[in-house]
Amino acid sequence: KRIRVGVVVGSLRRDSFNRRLAMALQKLAPAHFEFEQLRIDDLPPYDQDDDGEQCAQVKRLKAAVSACDGILFVSPEYNRSIPGVLKNAIDHASRPYGTSAWKGRPAGVIGTSQGAIGTALMQQHLRNVLAYLDMPTLGQPEAFVQFKDDLVDDEGGIANDDTRKFLQGWMAAYAAWVEAHAK
Ligand code: FNR
Repeated sequence: KRIRVGVVVGSLRRDSFNRRLAMALQKLAPAHFEFEQLRIDDLPPYDQDDDGEQCAQVKRLKAAVSACDGILFVSPEYNRSIPGVLKNAIDHASRPYGTSAWKGRPAGVIGTSQGAIGTALMQQHLRNVLAYLDMPTLGQPEAFVQFKDDLVDDEGGIANDDTRKFLQGWMAAYAAWVEAHAK
């Protein structure tokens, strides 16, 4: 059976390191996994007044999430927390109350930044949100990836052997997690 994973990148930056990491991670996944990056850059700021009449971009996001077996969050850390654009997307697809698209979908959390703690605090905050949304989230192994210019090679793969082996192991655990928890 093919497994479909929706990738949510928490950065809108054109040359985002996290998008590069997300693309490189996909190359390390089992062959029967397919990945789709879920678009969040055109969502309006969340407004509860619109809950009864969600706009087309929000409906599109909810439909895309609902079509996925698992979700992979790959995000930078902003001011020791979750980027606003990522939280905005999560809030949109969680509403109206009782119709959350996230509920029950297995998740993985990973990210990269140049700082030595490599998005650890963003990941903790995000885990809190995903726990409330009832998304079973891979606990181990954790991955805090310090971004260096040579992390991703010209072919879009993880350049360093040790880093690639580590991330390969992370992806194997994530893939098994999604298969175990997919609805
Ligand atoms: C950052 N950055 C950052 N880095 C970090 O390790 N911890 C942090 O708390 C923050 N805070 C922060 C706030 C804001 C508003 C910005 C714009 C940046 C730096 C961040 O890691 C860096 O810009 C990355 O390049 C962002 O990831 P992408 O966009 O390359 O994927």
